Amino acid sequence: SSNDNATSSAGGEQVAGNDGCDPGEQVIKFSHVTNSDKHPKGIAASLLQERINTEMDGRMCMEVYPSSMLYDDDKVLEAMLLGDVQMAAPSLSKFENYTTKLRIFNFPFLFENIDAVDRFQSSPAGQSLLNSMTDKGLKGLAFWHSGMKQLSADRPLLVPADAKGLKFRVENSDVLVAVFDQLGANPQKMSFSEVYGALQTGVVDGQENTWSNIYGQKFYEVQDGITNTDHGVLDYMVVTSSRWWDGLKDEDRRDLTRIVGEVSTERNNAVKELEQQARQSIADAGSEIRELTPEQRQQWVNALRPVWQRFTPDVGVETLKAAQAANQ
Ligand code: LMR
Repeated sequence: SSNDNATSSAGGEQVAGNDGCDPGEQVIKFSHVTNSDKHPKGIAASLLQERINTEMDGRMCMEVYPSSMLYDDDKVLEAMLLGDVQMAAPSLSKFENYTTKLRIFNFPFLFENIDAVDRFQSSPAGQSLLNSMTDKGLKGLAFWHSGMKQLSADRPLLVPADAKGLKFRVENSDVLVAVFDQLGANPQKMSFSEVYGALQTGVVDGQENTWSNIYGQKFYEVQDGITNTDHGVLDYMVVTSSRWWDGLKDEDRRDLTRIVGEVSTERNNAVKELEQQARQSIADAGSEIRELTPEQRQQWVNALRPVWQRFTPDVGVETLKAAQAANQ
């Protein structure tokens, strides 16, 4: 169970950067699923830890648990509401049990690039999404970028028909299920830590993810190249429990807000470079990266457009308009 897992990991292994908190310091456990180095989320979490532990020394102390060692994304929010973990930054696809508003981020080919995503998240419509789960006890503190998603399988994918009949791993989002249904493929929800094994053994044939995740998890090793589709976005929300947050001393809440804000801006500004480095590392490892012609890309756009209509009631027309406006 997640609790056994939490006890053995937290109590047993030493995690880099967790030097031990001093008595009297309030501990913030930050749990995430990606690798800790060369990854947008891993680096941002480490920087957050470093700054809190320096600037709030004696008051608060953050411990970071990467690589799903404490919780998978499907368990971490429950654990947060129980008070077993205080912060996390799950992908925006992993809040399905708490709100349908965040489904906007899974609309295929909605955002042209990560700058458009950034503009939308900074807009009033985007910022209001940080508060879309307060009725469920979850408070959003910031958005963190990873990047645009790329597509791969155990064979080349250039036009939508290439994906037909193949099994694809998707994150826990009904929009993503609809995307692959629309292609005539077979989507399968699966937690991040299981994907490599599933691709390797043929439980699934393909996947979609950012360059940094494809590199960090070595998915390219068990796929026939990667197609540069940029067909969607994979970003994160830094979340905490409203109860824990509201119980903090004013001074601590103020300092945490400032540090989270500064770390978010700094790391979000660096993310494009990190994704490009991951892409380059995949190419250097000998994996083929395939580019789409404008005509091929348009085929994917056309094939997937019906998904928007189906999920617009969940996100609201105004939110969709604000997201589209962020492309200009
Ligand atoms: C995934 O499950 O593919 C991602 O959400 C993992 C992550 O946190 O980047």
